[in-house]
Parts: sequence; structure tokens; C-alpha cells
Amino acid sequence: MLRSLAPAPGRAPDPLPLGRALRARWPGPPWSRPLELHLPAHGRGRGLAPDLAALLRQPPGSWDLPELPAIGGLLEPVGAVADAQRACAELLGAERCWFGVNGASGLLQAALLALAPPGSRVLLPRNLHRSLLHGCVLGQLRPVLFNLPFDPASGLWRPPDAPWLERVLAAALAQGPLAAVVLVSPTYQGFSADLVALTPLVHAAGLPLLVDQAHGGGEALAAGADLVVLSCQKAGGGLAQSAALLAQGPRHEPAAIARSLLWLQTSSPSALLLASAEAALRHAGSPAGRVRRRRAEAVAARLKRRCAGLGLPLLRNHDPLRLVLHTAALGINGLQADRWLLERGVIAELPEPGALTFCLGEVPPPGVARRLPRALAALVRQQGGDPLAPFSPPPLPLVAEPELALDRAWRAPALAVSLAEAAGHLAAEPLCPYPPGIPLLVPGERIDAARAAWLAAEALRWPGQIADTVKVVAS
Ligand SMILES: Cc1ncc(COP(=O)(O)O)c(C=O)c1O
Repeated sequence: MLRSLAPAPGRAPDPLPLGRALRARWPGPPWSRPLELHLPAHGRGRGLAPDLAALLRQPPGSWDLPELPAIGGLLEPVGAVADAQRACAELLGAERCWFGVNGASGLLQAALLALAPPGSRVLLPRNLHRSLLHGCVLGQLRPVLFNLPFDPASGLWRPPDAPWLERVLAAALAQGPLAAVVLVSPTYQGFSADLVALTPLVHAAGLPLLVDQAHGGGEALAAGADLVVLSCQKAGGGLAQSAALLAQGPRHEPAAIARSLLWLQTSSPSALLLASAEAALRHAGSPAGRVRRRRAEAVAARLKRRCAGLGLPLLRNHDPLRLVLHTAALGINGLQADRWLLERGVIAELPEPGALTFCLGEVPPPGVARRLPRALAALVRQQGGDPLAPFSPPPLPLVAEPELALDRAWRAPALAVSLAEAAGHLAAEPLCPYPPGIPLLVPGERIDAARAAWLAAEALRWPGQIADTVKVVAS
């Protein structure tokens, strides 16, 4: 999430603006604090994994250690980091685990580069996180993008089912061999794919499956996925940037993963972030972690019952701690709803044109089951209206490859044209509202008239997030 509070007009420049912003204390009484329903899921420290919280109570900085012999590093066979990675792999049912200090982003890239040699084609869903696209550039991979089921009522993409993925695989393989397949499950909004049904289809095609579970807890391993990436701050009690890559089975080379981690990770990984990954994964799998999770789910259930009692439409998802308000059904754009709520002290995680997603976190904020339904009811009273018209599905083929190689298009001399004039041109950069960080257009894709019209309509729905111009390759 990237949203900042504007500095007070007329205030003298602050010599330490970030430090001051992070240290700021809420000036009012505790009950008037903003309702913070965004990531990281530890919610300002309330839900930090206990071992991590204990570490942070040590003298500040005392834990910021380099790769001393006793500690070792991510790629060392011995030392505390190696022991911690082994223990987490065992706990989660993986054969191997590598911690990451550059978020799920860094580990998705390392995993992709390990599975696919330069020049190979990789099958990626249209709701891919942009880090995978960047991984394709770094690894000189050819992304083959597959379309997903689309819900016109909410404007959201949904996970594919088995018949859908079968069609996708057949269409992609008809155009040439693939090196790997990626799926995202659960999505940012908490929609999960049936990985038990999908994984065998990928394996039957002789391909390895990488699952982006940045918003999940590693369930993809039990479904047989080969590589799984977790984010310890999105679905756990870890700090931002701490993450884990889990691996099992014969369809990957551990040495290739170690090599791509060497290429992509810093040579001075933060001991604090490594400890954060260890503590978050261990806590989630512990009895105390399960009790904490059940308590959070009970709060979420109470909250959802109150919302239902007030007639507030919530989208059904699979993550009890993600609440997705179907704003389109209330006649409100999710970005508009977000702005209105922000001004009234309710901070959501993910505004989209048809929905607004709130993350309740590992330990939901006190009073959330009372305060949030009240705020949402007020939103409906003041901003609500007739349901929005159904969203038009993106006019995309089932599978498509950029016409010009991704890295060449992204580096090519470019010019900005209005979306109205974009038809016929090749995109030179992605069009990517953030969050969620899902590109609506990928460099090297040819923009046809239907796509240009769809993008122009999308730009109106993402005010301030999508410009009305797009960079295209200069011909
Ligand atoms: C589905 C998905 N995968 C990966 C990421 C990247 O995670 P991080 O920001 O921790 O690198 C995100 C971030 O929002 C995401 O939503």
C-alpha cells in the first residue's frame, strides 16, 4: 500500500521527515485512533510473532549482525540461518526453505529464474504481481499471459478452475514449449484456486508449478506445488520484506535456486528480517499461533454478521481475515469509498473500482467489529446509490504473448500518446495501478482498438492511478 499523509501547508521543512512520521504518536484519546485495516498484518505490532517482538525489545540494533560463523547466511549449509530454514521447511511440509529479505517480489523472481532458462516461455496469469514481469526482464524470459475468469459485478478477476486451466495449457503449448507455470492463490482479495485440481494438470504437461502465495500460508505444498512463495507480513506476524520460498519434489534444481538467490539478493541480508521470517513461520505453525488465528477469525465472523445485518454487501472469499466490500453493488467506486473513509479515520488496504478490501490482521484492531460496520453504513447513507453498471471484461485472448520482446519494448525509445490514440501501437511500459500491482497492459503488447477503448474506460475508473496517456514504442 502506498499512500501518504500530506504535510501541513506552511510547515517548515523537517530535517528528519521519515523518522518523525514513524515516531508520531496519536495525539487524541485511544478510542479515536484511525481504524487501520491495512498491511502489514501485524497491525502496528499488535500481531507480531512473539519471538520477533521479544527480539525487538532487546537493546535497539543489538541484533543487527552480519553473517558471523555462528549465524551463517541464506546459502550456507551450516549456522543458525541454515538451521532455521531447515526447521521451517520441516514445519511447513517442504523439502527446502529459503528466507527472503526483499519481499515476496524478490523470491518470486529468484524462483522464476531458477525454473526457466533465458529465452524460454513461462505461463503467467493476467493477475500476476508485477515482480514476475520484472523477473521476466531480468531472466530474458518470454511471458505467455493467460486470461482469467472475470466477474462483471465486481470487476475482479477470479482464479481459474480445472477446465479453464486445461484450455489455457492446450492453447499455450500449441504455440511452443513452456518452461514453467505460475498461479496466484489466494489473491489479494482472498480468492483461492482449487490447487488440488489444478496442480496435476500442470504436472501432467511435464511442467513445474510455482504458486505465488504471498497472501496465503503455504497450503499449495499439500496440493503438490513445486515452489511456493510466502510473504511473512501479508499473512503472518512478520515485518515487511520478510518472505520465504518453499520447495519440494523433483521438478526444480535446488542449485539453480541458490544461484538465482545469489544473483538477486543483497550480500548483507538483514538479520532482523531473517529472524522475522523464522519467527512468523514458526508462530503460525504453533499451538499459540493457531489460538491467535482462531481469535482473529472469531472477531472477523462477528464483524461480517454485523455487516450482513446492516445489508452491507460483502464478496464471498476464502480468507476469513480479508473483508471485501462490494462497493459497486452500493453504487460507489471503491477508490471513492476509500477516500471518503480515509477522511473519517478508516484506512483500508486495497481500493479497486468495484470493491474495497480491508485486512483485519493477525490481531484485529480493538473495536473493529463495532466501528467498521458503523462507518460503512454511514458511507452508504452519504455516498450510496444505484448499483454501478456491470464492468466489461478485458478484451483479451485466452493466451497471448507480447508481440515485441518484453525487455526490448521496455527499453525502446518511447513516446506518450493519449489512450484514445493508442490503438495500433506497441506498449512500451506497463499500465499498472498499485495496489494491487497487476498490470493491465504489458510492454510489447499490441494495443488494438478494443483494448484501447477498454483502457480508456479503466482510466476513468482508477482516477489518479492511471494516466490518460500511455507510453508506446516509437516507430
Ligand atoms: C499476489 C502478490 N504477490 C507478490 C506480491 C509482492 O509482495 P512484496 O511486496 O512483499 O514483495 C504482492 C504484493 O502486493 C502480491 O499482492
